Amino acid sequence: MENGRKYALSWIDGLWLLFLLALALLPPVREVHKQLILLAIGLFQLLERQVLLRFPQRGAVYAVLVKIALATVLLGHTGELSINSSYYPIFYLPVITAAMYFGPAATLFWTAVASLAYCSYLYPALQEYELTRAGVVELATRILFFFVAALIVNRFVLENRRQVRRYQQLSESLAEANRQLQAAQEEARRSERLAALGQLSAGLAHEIRNPLGVIKGSAEMLTQRLQQAQPLASELAGYILSETNRLNALVARFLDFARPSRLDLRPVDAPALLDRALETVRAQMPDAPVTVERKYAAGLPPLYADEQLCEQIFVNLFTNAYQAMDGAGGRLQVTAERDALEGLPGVAVEVQDSGPGIPAEMRQQIFNPFVSSKKDGVGLGLSIVAKIVDDHHGSIRLKSEPGESACFRVFLPSGDPQGQEESDGGNSDRRG
Ligand SMILES: Nc1ncnc2c1ncn2[C@@H]1O[C@H](COP(=O)(O)OP(=O)(O)OP(=O)(O)O)[C@@H](O)[C@H]1O
Ligand SMILES: [Mg+2]
Repeated sequence: MENGRKYALSWIDGLWLLFLLALALLPPVREVHKQLILLAIGLFQLLERQVLLRFPQRGAVYAVLVKIALATVLLGHTGELSINSSYYPIFYLPVITAAMYFGPAATLFWTAVASLAYCSYLYPALQEYELTRAGVVELATRILFFFVAALIVNRFVLENRRQVRRYQQLSESLAEANRQLQAAQEEARRSERLAALGQLSAGLAHEIRNPLGVIKGSAEMLTQRLQQAQPLASELAGYILSETNRLNALVARFLDFARPSRLDLRPVDAPALLDRALETVRAQMPDAPVTVERKYAAGLPPLYADEQLCEQIFVNLFTNAYQAMDGAGGRLQVTAERDALEGLPGVAVEVQDSGPGIPAEMRQQIFNPFVSSKKDGVGLGLSIVAKIVDDHHGSIRLKSEPGESACFRVFLPSGDPQGQEESDGGNSDRRG
C-alpha cells in the first residue's frame, strides 16, 4: 500500500482471513484462547504495513517479535503437548517475515529465535515424558525446515531487491540522458537563432560599410580643407569623422560576429594566451581596482586553436568581469586545468569575478546577441565568445548559480578537432 493512502482490504487479505477462519473451525474449536490468538494474528498481519510506516526504523523488528510471541502463545493453546501441536507451522510466519525484511544474517538470527521459542515447549514436555530418538529427529526436521524456508525466501527477496535497484539506476540514467538531450536541444535552438541572425546581420553590415566608407573619406577631405578657414565647420566635420569611426568599429565587430570565421589553427600556449588577454584588458582599464589571481596547472597541453580569435574570447570575458567589478573593485580569478570533452582532450579555463553575478532572468539569454544590461553595451561580447568557442568545437557555460558572482567555464580542445578542415574550406571564400 502506498504511503498516505487509506487502508482498504484487498482480495488477498480476504483470502488470508478465510484461511484463518478455516483454522479456527478445526479442533480444538471451543478453545477460546486459540480463537483469540488466531484473530490477533489475522489482524496484526493486516495492520503490519501500518506498523512499518509508523516505525520506519524498528517496525520490521517489532513485526517479527510480535509474530514469534503470538505463534508461541498459539502453540500453548493447541494440543495436549504444545511441542507436538500440529499448529507448529505457524512459526513459518515470523520466519518468512524476517526473510522478507532483513539480510541473510538477520534472517538466520530471527529464525534461530523463532526455533528457540518453539523449543521452549520442550521443557514442560520433558517434565512428563522422555525424549525419544524419533522425537529428536522429528524436532530437528521441523526446525531445519524453518531455516530452509527462511533462506529460500530471503534469497528470492534479495534478488528481487537487486532487480528493483537495477531498474531504479536504469531509470535514473534515462532521466539524466533526457536532461542532456534537452540541454542539447536548447543549445541547437540557440545555434539556429544565432545562425539566422548572423546571416541577416552580415548582409546588413556589409551594406552599411560601403556608404560609411564614402562618408568617412569625404569627412576626412572636408576636415583637411576647412581646417584653417572655418574652425566651426572644421569641428563639425571632425565630429562626423569620429562618429563614423565609431560606427565603423561597431560594424567591424558586428561582422566578426556575423560572418563565418576562418580559423588559422596552430598549437597555442594557453597560459601565455591568458596572460596576453589579461594584459590587454588591464591596459584598457588601468585604473580599475581589480586584483587578478592566476592558477594555471603545470604541464597544460597546447591548444590547437586560432590564437587571435581565442585571445578575443578571454579579452571579452575579462572585460565583462572588470566592468562587473567596476567602482567597488574586486578579485578576478583565472584558473586553467586539463579537461576533456566527449573524449577530446583539452584545457578548461574558469573566469571567476567577485561582481554582482548574472540575474536569473538573464541567464538564458546572455549568449544571444544584443543582450546587454549596460548603458553603452552592445551585447555582442558573449555571443562572439560563444561563436568562437563553437567554431573550435569547444564549450562554454555559465557555471555560477543565480545570486553568486559570475563564473564562466570555457573548454578548448588541444587535439585537432574532427571536421575542422571542412569548416575551414567551406568558409574561406566568404571572408571579407
Ligand atoms: N562577469 C559578469 N558579471 C555580471 N554580468 C555579466 C558578466 N558578464 C556578462 N554579464 C551580463 O551579460 C550581458 C551580456 O554581456 P556581453 O559581453 O554579451 O555584452 P555587453 O558586455 O553588455 O556589451 P559588449 O560586450 O558588446 O560591449 C552584460 O550586459 C551583463 O549584463
Ligand atoms: Mg561585454
